[in-house]
Amino acid sequence: MNKSLLPVPSGIFKILDLSVNDNNIEESCLEFSLILPTYNEAENIQNIIKILSDLLDKVIPNNYELIVVDDDSPDYTWQIALQLISDYPKLRVMRRVNEKGLSTAVIRGWQAAKGKILGVIDADLQHPPEILLDLLQNMKNGADLAVASRHVEGGGVSEWSVARRFLSRGAQMLGLIILPEVIGRLSDPMSGYFMIRRRSIINKTLNPVGYKILIEVTARGKINWLSEIGYIFRERQIGESKVTWKQYIQYLQHLIRLRLSLSTRFFQFCLVGLGGMIMDMSILYLLSDNNTLGLPLTRSKIVAAELAIINNFIWNDFWTFRDITFSQPGKHLRIRRFIKFNIICLTGLILNIFLLNVLFNTFKFNRYFANFFAIVCVTLWNFWFNLKLSWRVTEID
Ligand code: GDD
Ligand code: MN
Repeated sequence: MNKSLLPVPSGIFKILDLSVNDNNIEESCLEFSLILPTYNEAENIQNIIKILSDLLDKVIPNNYELIVVDDDSPDYTWQIALQLISDYPKLRVMRRVNEKGLSTAVIRGWQAAKGKILGVIDADLQHPPEILLDLLQNMKNGADLAVASRHVEGGGVSEWSVARRFLSRGAQMLGLIILPEVIGRLSDPMSGYFMIRRRSIINKTLNPVGYKILIEVTARGKINWLSEIGYIFRERQIGESKVTWKQYIQYLQHLIRLRLSLSTRFFQFCLVGLGGMIMDMSILYLLSDNNTLGLPLTRSKIVAAELAIINNFIWNDFWTFRDITFSQPGKHLRIRRFIKFNIICLTGLILNIFLLNVLFNTFKFNRYFANFFAIVCVTLWNFWFNLKLSWRVTEID
């Protein structure tokens, strides 16, 4: 029995494959590792460790571990946890002194973990432990991420004031605006009670701030099947919450950071689009200007637009979407992507002209402002439909 502290992993926040950590995988890997982040939970820790051990001993005896990650609590939570190891041999304890914060505590715990399924639960008994087995069952059934949610059937909060509910929902709405493709997948993005398959986050560099680790793994992980289980967020019986206004700032910071890092593809797409526009203008000049060839305007424009579309397609196929293109090799598939890209961009052009007209004629916008607005809308249109229809769909069939 080992009663010493777990060493704290250092360096970047990345979870490795088990075989990289250890040569003897079969012996060292476990079914499930559960992290309990703690800060001043001395009065709760024994209780929750007992409840969780009893639950897990019933379903996966000897195939799990509980890891307390304590940030050097002034009430010595880590020391009390250490003393519990003799009664609960599946318990391991990490004491961090150089880093702090809930999200990073969870990741450091996962980095030291041996489980194929990685989980997290609050140590203050506000998360009902019984749900743990349902979450685990969902993972066994094939989910990549199983989340305990307050906002699905069977879920809720016990005694929250209207103001607090409002604040919580407001934060969720804000997330939905800034990061719709991530927050839209979660009914309760604020949940700190969930499990994820190690495979889904292996080698992804995580970079969270503050409390919301679930948002980070949903955004950066490879999650195909997401399942949710309702739970009632209980009132705290002992100790106090560590949430302050600072967490709201950090939440916003986290959303913006994720937005920027998930938008690289969109920026590449815009850059290609800008190049295409310059090309379109130059060709239009060469073909139609009276100082050059002086051909009819419409015919010149059609040639210019089509050449720009071909140019943009080549850049997007080899650069913007190269990671997707990689799994769709061959001339045949490339031609299919090109035809779809062409149709979507032409539809975009029609939309552009339509919007420009409506804004200018009906709403009396300034013509350049109207054109700018139309270009922004059409760029989003082009990006979204090309991503979903030209590149992604071809990937599936
Ligand atoms: N290691 C470490 N470091 N643990 C921390 C830290 C920290 O800086 N801050 C908080 N914790 C631990 C607490 O000891 C507790 O076990 C857990 O993280 C949750 O912290 P609370 O302060 O009790 O948070 P809460 O109850 O207000 O907030 C919870 O809100 C969600 C629902 O909106 C979140 O923590 C979520 O887990 C929860 O689902
Ligand atoms: Mn709490």
